[in-house]
Parts: sequence; structure tokens; C-alpha cells
Amino acid sequence: MKKASKAANPSQRKCIFKKKQLPPVYEAMLIPKPYGYQPLNGCFVINKDTLLIVDPKRKTLAEAFQSMFFRALGHNLYIHYNKPGHNNILFEENSAIDAEGYTIECYPDRIKITFGGAPGFFYAMQSVRQILKLDKRLYEDSINFPCMIITDVPKYRYRGFMLDVSRHFYDKTEVKRYIDFLALLKFNVFHWHLSDDQGFRFEIKKYPFINMTASQRLSDCVARSEADSPYVDGVYKGYYTKEDIKEVVDYAKERFITVIPEIDMPGHVQALIAAYPWLSCTGERVDVRVEYGVSEEALCVGQETTYQFLKDILDELFELFDGPYFHLGGDEVVPNNWQNCPHCKKLMEDKGLADFSALQTYFINRIAEYCNQKGKTVIGWNDGIKAGADKKIISQFWVENPERNAELASQIADLDRKVIISSEKGFYCDYPYAKLPLKTTYFYGLPDELANPEFEKNILGVEAPLWTEYVLSRDKADLNCFPRLFAVAEQAWTRQNNPEEDGVRCKHKLKKLVDARYKRFLYRAEAVENILDCFRVNYAETKLADPENKKYKKIEVLKWHGIDQYSELKMNKNLKDQRKKVKENQKLLDRAQAEILLEHTLASIDTMPVKDVMIDVPYDRDLLD
Ligand code: ACM
Ligand code: ZN
Repeated sequence: MKKASKAANPSQRKCIFKKKQLPPVYEAMLIPKPYGYQPLNGCFVINKDTLLIVDPKRKTLAEAFQSMFFRALGHNLYIHYNKPGHNNILFEENSAIDAEGYTIECYPDRIKITFGGAPGFFYAMQSVRQILKLDKRLYEDSINFPCMIITDVPKYRYRGFMLDVSRHFYDKTEVKRYIDFLALLKFNVFHWHLSDDQGFRFEIKKYPFINMTASQRLSDCVARSEADSPYVDGVYKGYYTKEDIKEVVDYAKERFITVIPEIDMPGHVQALIAAYPWLSCTGERVDVRVEYGVSEEALCVGQETTYQFLKDILDELFELFDGPYFHLGGDEVVPNNWQNCPHCKKLMEDKGLADFSALQTYFINRIAEYCNQKGKTVIGWNDGIKAGADKKIISQFWVENPERNAELASQIADLDRKVIISSEKGFYCDYPYAKLPLKTTYFYGLPDELANPEFEKNILGVEAPLWTEYVLSRDKADLNCFPRLFAVAEQAWTRQNNPEEDGVRCKHKLKKLVDARYKRFLYRAEAVENILDCFRVNYAETKLADPENKKYKKIEVLKWHGIDQYSELKMNKNLKDQRKKVKENQKLLDRAQAEILLEHTLASIDTMPVKDVMIDVPYDRDLLD
């Protein structure tokens, strides 16, 4: 993850070399951009006689490929296991390729898709889907597949998106809709932030108040918004049953997406304490939190009953989530209650724990050890994963400042800790574009303390979180995520391969090339947005996603902090309406012009001198007499 070249300082001397025309750069209309692409002449015609030639072992995937074409074409491409011939799409598994990698070779007489393993087959399928726009129903009887060669392999093994369903609840249908988008963009992790101060959103048989009490709050706090913004009054609630969770996990699995549940602890648990007050140091009753911000409630980590309770919950969750990871949160813990708690104080004394940071580490290590016994690798947010935390715990890097960066760098050096990059400076989908423009996400680079090969080798991947305090509708979630997730997908998947930039020493020239690369990204983004239109995704207009006016950005950020979190949503609607109007006006203009043209043509016929009109009718001279 290298930092993008910075804008050249205008005061620097200009490039003295003569401008040389660079060869054009061709890119496939794909997001994320594949590693290699070579356009060829001609196209392969896919028609009703085209056969899919696949090993029976990959029957399920072949059927998925078949149904993708069925939706676009209205007829089936038949699957054969072995049939030599020309009008074929041949699938070939090759263990020499990465399991997630694939190549697509399209020639006028055949298509060959080579894949490393089942995920590679699936990703090749997503590329074909995007190139041919199979969701758009553009075709009648046949499809012209432009000839090309694509070779592709991901940069990172972990490509994630997180959805916070505590602050606002998204039912299983909404979650599955997002899983579909993730699959389209070759993400492979869905991190499900299932619990927080404002709501616990899953069912636990042993502790029914988790879903009966902890899943409801007295009202939905959107008080910082303007009066005319959407306001939901009354009790706000929602949770997933075990069946819902299973359905989502299975749905994701079919799309090669691992679901990682997060139960945030020992902080961010006010909703749980509302249901079971004995889990806190004070034992006092509290409500499920309505306001946002950081709650002072935390689990009492000095009592054995807390650990037993958590183990019971985890046991029930492990039955539903069979993936390799479990997220324990660990962020933003306020130790105020630990300070006066005899249990917590005694534990610190008994174990020789110097401070609350050490106490939190003791807690996280105990729970992580239990998860490890059950075959799970634990993830925690970087502010909660201190040097003393078990080195197997993966740190999710979100707080980015010199102190935290140095802390994480030393953990990498000393413990070889693995990291997931989710810096709020690059990947927070809840931020308005005025605060975190699309371009910043696309060009995000690690801070200097971490930008070294030692750190790089410990990066598992990239994840973009969507916190939903002010994201209470599908439209708002769509706006915040798209096209932002396109840039995240490229950060996570694309191994940058830009030969035209290699070796360019002149800063001006390099900047131009980098800007051109970004323009091409926007061009590809537009093509994929056309696909998203099929799913009615309310993506941000480019003007809004990459605002340029400094004053506008400042005002927007102020609004988001204080009075109106929905300003961009309204603005985007206006921009979309404007675009629609421009389109409609263009149509009207085209029609008016066509009418004028017709009038002119008719008029010119009317005024045409008669002598110019040739009447050449044979007649019988005798009849004239
Ligand atoms: C976080 O944003 N509190 C992880
Ligand atoms: Zn305590």
C-alpha cells in the first residue's frame, strides 16, 4: 500500500524533457481493476448453441454461470462435461494459479476461463457479469463478447466491509442485498457489528433478555438532524433470530464471503447491561442507550460470572458462525467503573496488573483464549489491542495518529502481529464525502511510521466499516457506500500494475499519469454504477463524492458534526434530479430539433419549383386526341 505521489509543488522547476506522446492505456470496464488486461480484435458470439464445458466437480458454479446468462438472454447455455467444438466456453481448473485467481481468454472462436479454485471461478464469473452487463437485460438472442485476455489475482486475502446494525437495524433482506454487492466487487468478508450500546441484535436461548430487552431502545436518536429530516419516533427495535443468522451466513458462503460476527466488549455494552445489570461493576439499572458517543458502561471484568456469561453466549454463536474469525471489539473502553469496583481492584492485585490497560488486556486474552480453543482467531480494534495482548489477536487499525501508529509498529516488530487496515482516514464509510472524499480512499496510503516492508508483510487486508448512527435508511447507506466501496475494492484487490508510471522521475509527468489513472477509475466506476442502477442503488454523484470547493467542504463537515447529517443525501437527490432533468431536456431538445428538421423538409418540398419536379409518366398519345 504505497502512498500516491503528492501534487507537485508549482515552484519546482518544470520537466525539461520534450513531451512524448504516451501510448494509450486500455482498461477493462471492471471494478476492481484486474491485474492484467489485453484487448484483442474481434468478438466471440455467445448464442443459444454455445456450450459451457465444465468438470462435473464444478457443477454448482457452472449452474450459477448458466443462470446469470439465462437472466440476460432468456435461454439456457447448456452444460457439457466434455465436448470438443468451437462454440464453447471452456472452464479449466489449474492448481498452479492462486485459488482466488483466474484468467479469461476470449478469442473469436472460443472462450477459455482458467481458475485456481472455486473462488477463482466465482470471481471470473463476476468479471464476465460486469464486462457484459448481464444484469441490464440488453440482449435478445446473442451476446458479443469482445476478445481480450484478463489475468487476475487479488492483492490481499482479506477484503472486508463492516455493517453496524446496532445503531440502526438492517434486516436480513437488506444485509443480503449488501452481500450481493460485496460479491460483485470481489470482497470476501462481511463483518457484522451485531452489538453496541444502542442495541444487541441477536437471539440467545440461554439469555432471552438479550433479544427481548437489549434489542430495543426508547427512541431513535436522530436529534442532531434538522426538523425536516427523517425522524423515527417511538421504540426502536430489531434483532435476528438464529434462523435469520443461518440464512445470511449460508447466503454469504455461496458467494465466497465469510461472515465475521462482532460482539464488542468489555465496552460498548450498555444495551447488554440494561438487560442483565449484574454484568456491570455497579449492578445498577440502566436503559439501552439512546444517545450516541461513548458510554461509560463496561462489563465488570473482576467477576467470574461475567466470563461464564460470555462463554455461554459465544458457545451459542459459534454454532451459527462457522468461519475462522471472531471479533471481540475492545475499542473505546472507559474504565471509570472499574476504578471503584472491589472485584476489579482485587483482580488487579491478585494478578499484579499495573493499570486499567493491563486489566483490559487480561480480559481480552482470557476471552481470546476461549475462542482459540474453539478454533477461532480473534480480531480486535487497535486501540484495545495493547502490546500485552496475545500475539495471535489480529489488530484492526482504525485510530490513526502518531502515538497509535508507533504502538502498532512496535507490536508488528516485537510480536509479528497481523493487521487489517481500516483507518478512519481512508475507509470510514459513515464519513461524509466532504470529510473523506472518494479520491482520498482511492489513494489512501499508510502513515510514514507504518509504510515499510516489515509492516506490509503483516497486513492481512483492508476493511471499510459503515457505522450507522446517522445512516438510518437504505438510501443513506447506499450513498455512503457507493462509489466509496469501489475505491476500497481496488485497494483490497488490485495489485497496482501501471507500467506507464514505472520509472517516471519527473514529478509533473507522474502526477499527470496518476491523475489519468484516477480518471480511468471514475470512468470504470460509471460503468459499474450502470449495473448498480439495476438494483436501485442510490450512489453518490461524482460531483458530491469528490467535492472541490474548500469552503463547501468546510461547511458540510460542520453541518455533519452539528446540525444536519443528511445534507449530502439531500444534495445528491438534487444532483440526481438535475441530471434527470438535463436528460429529459436533452430528449425534448432532440425531439424539437427533429420536428424543426421535418418542418424544413416539408417546407422545402412546398417551395420546390415545379420545373424541377420530373413527371415521367408514359401515356398513350391516342388518348389525348
Ligand atoms: C470504532 O470506530 N470505534 C472502532
Ligand atoms: Zn468490576
